[in-house]
Amino acid sequence: MFDMIIRNANLSSGETGFDIGITKGKITAIEKNLTSECGQEIDATGRLVSPAFCDPHFHMDATLSLGKPRMNMSGTLLEGITLWGELRPIVTKEELVERALRYCDLAVSQGLLFIRSHVDTSDPRLVTAEAMLEVRERVAPYIDLQLVAFPQDGYYRAPDGAKALEKALDMGIEIVGGIPHFERTMEDGRRSVEALCRIAADRGLMVDMHCDETDDPMSRHIETLTAETVRHGLQGRVSGSHLTSMHSMDNYYVSKLIALMAEAEINAIPNPLINIMLQGRHDTFPKRRGLTRVRELIEAGINVSFGQDCTMDPWYSMGSADMLEVAHMGVHVSQMGGVDEKKKLFDAITINSAKTMGLENYGLTFGSNADLVVLQAADVVEAIRLKPTRLYVLKAGEIVSSSPARIATLTLPDRPASIDMGRDYMPCAE
Ligand code: FE2
Repeated sequence: MFDMIIRNANLSSGETGFDIGITKGKITAIEKNLTSECGQEIDATGRLVSPAFCDPHFHMDATLSLGKPRMNMSGTLLEGITLWGELRPIVTKEELVERALRYCDLAVSQGLLFIRSHVDTSDPRLVTAEAMLEVRERVAPYIDLQLVAFPQDGYYRAPDGAKALEKALDMGIEIVGGIPHFERTMEDGRRSVEALCRIAADRGLMVDMHCDETDDPMSRHIETLTAETVRHGLQGRVSGSHLTSMHSMDNYYVSKLIALMAEAEINAIPNPLINIMLQGRHDTFPKRRGLTRVRELIEAGINVSFGQDCTMDPWYSMGSADMLEVAHMGVHVSQMGGVDEKKKLFDAITINSAKTMGLENYGLTFGSNADLVVLQAADVVEAIRLKPTRLYVLKAGEIVSSSPARIATLTLPDRPASIDMGRDYMPCAE
């Protein structure tokens, strides 16, 4: 007897026609033609069932603040930082909580149930930290929210930046962040990486730094991050977010660097939407894309997971909590359009991100938590292409969101009356 059975599911592994049995929030069967009784049944009708999406890089404190106090007119990263610096002193805890909760509602509807958010610790009031800790607790029944203490204005560059970061960790934020390329000098950046990795080692925490988010090929803080990771025995617990300078680095140097990253088991977190929007802004033409070397990192065995970074904030005026949109952009900008390549990029928004975040019991396997999404698409490749409707979203085996399938009604001579946008509108419809 199962609490629920999802029938006729295509699995993200590519296998088709399975029934998924769920008991007490766990996946307790993945078989064909399950005959047991169940409390509730979903007919997936040959659609894709995937583990829920993970976003390993987001800014929950800034989300949905677009236009406050003004728009980013240059569209650059640096004006975004300036703009957020204008908003931060006047923002209230209530506003931060309200915006974050609204975003989390959207995330659930998109099947996004695991989020790692950086929390700006630059303002010594730490109202951002207070608010995000409250949000973490309030959304815990349906979203696993990890928080990173992030010194947006610089660990050394901001007055009391070091003190505020430690205070945020004392308050309960569980990951150490950093922004070495934004410190005043390369040397300050290097020192900040050393100091922050030591803090993480002493406190037994993970590290996730905004690292080399610049077009400057000489921004090589990732090299220091790999060295400090090995020095402190933090292998597998350290993430380098963005890594856009690698796009512009000398190929010979990168061949050494990628091996060092693999040795240190660094998790790489490119953010395709924001990287293609913000990088290359000082170029005329040719204009660099800025996204890090996704294919080369994957081929070297490095765990690559994609983050969304922003949704409607000072840095990015678009976004919709849709990790398939992130993967879709990743396919284009990294030019990974092959079938197997697209499958690898689906991993970047699911299992790879879960590994980055250290999630336990994640996946679509026997014994995993039943945190699942049923999509109006047949497989992962079609999911990335169509960014389809999330028909059902399950948290611990309970439906937390459902949406009707997108069916277009046609009024055309000698053509069908309707098409199913996730089934008929495919290259090889049955
Ligand atoms: Fe970020």
